[in-house]
Amino acid sequence: MKEFLKAFLEILKKNQREIEGYKFTVPSSKVYPFQWLWDSCFHSIIYLSLGEAEWAKEEIVSILAGQWENGMIPHMIYRGSSKKHHVKWNTTKNTSSITQPPMIAYAVERIYRKTDDKNFVEKVFKQLDKYYGWLRTARGDKYLLYIKHPWESGQDDLPVWDHIYGKKDPSRKTLKSYKIKILRGSLHFKVKSVLFNSVYLRNLRSMSFLASAIGLSEKALAYDQIYKLTEEEFRKDLLDPEAGIFFALNENKHIKIKTANIFLPLFAKMLKIEEAEQLIEKYLLNENLFWTKYPVPTVSIDEYAFQPNRYWRGSTWININWFIYKGLKEYHLNGIAEELRQRSISLVSKSGFHEYYNSINGMGRGPDDFVWSGLIFDMN
Ligand code: GLC
Repeated sequence: MKEFLKAFLEILKKNQREIEGYKFTVPSSKVYPFQWLWDSCFHSIIYLSLGEAEWAKEEIVSILAGQWENGMIPHMIYRGSSKKHHVKWNTTKNTSSITQPPMIAYAVERIYRKTDDKNFVEKVFKQLDKYYGWLRTARGDKYLLYIKHPWESGQDDLPVWDHIYGKKDPSRKTLKSYKIKILRGSLHFKVKSVLFNSVYLRNLRSMSFLASAIGLSEKALAYDQIYKLTEEEFRKDLLDPEAGIFFALNENKHIKIKTANIFLPLFAKMLKIEEAEQLIEKYLLNENLFWTKYPVPTVSIDEYAFQPNRYWRGSTWININWFIYKGLKEYHLNGIAEELRQRSISLVSKSGFHEYYNSINGMGRGPDDFVWSGLIFDMN
């Protein structure tokens, strides 16, 4: 682990920025040279596990500085001069106009648990509250949230979205053209994603916890209530009772593709222990579905879309492993959690801190200076 850590600290140093008075870390100097919302939340968690609480806070402060007046937190803030990733967002602001999985309250909860810094929570709570309120009104029909663009999912090319395009197995180039069409409004996209909603549920708990921590007991109760109603709707609308797993919803229909997102309700801690055990036994540890040499592939091996090398279409991502690891720990399934941790570590030690990995042979894919793969330091 020591050699490893040294290499990672060098990547961190290279990717840290201080621009216009804000300190943050870019996901990759080579490919992603700005600030991204959920990346920064992961970065914050990684900093905490490395004992760098001040950096953890800076990531959050910098992200919140990009919040819109209506409460939205954009998924990208263009701080820096690169020409990459510039598309027409229909805004005069220096940000994107869509969001990403709402991990920020969880990151702040972790900061508070580690530092006991109530002032920090007090400083950021109003903005967080405004964001989760915005999600409910701008991304909710009832309680579950929908996303309006594949980029909001954080899982850009997941085959779950193929359904909306009406095309099986599109190339990367075709996928890009669909995404631009959605931005222009010529293709309609409205999906209730399992990952997005699981992350949201877990973060509603964090909001309740943070509200209590600063003495806002009514707020805390309100968040508990929203959690309960959202969880009920999640079960009612996303569960496929036959398969015993949750699927994304489009126009009231399940999109029945098995992806690693079926394990995200573990992170939301919304399953009964028997359900969790069955999910692990039947799906996670099944070598014909998800238990490859370098698990967990984003898409199940038996799906038409499974390609172990491809971006979000069967490759392995450390943030997804981290979610599953944390979920397993919630249920005290420590043996399998440890096995997943070991395999994640062996993947990174074999190939370095890549953006993603081939789930069969462990080869690194995407840039090799990718920060959130450092989440292995928080698998404990
Ligand atoms: C890609 C990923 C997204 C991530 C971004 C920056 O777009 O799909 O989840 O936030 O890169 O790392």
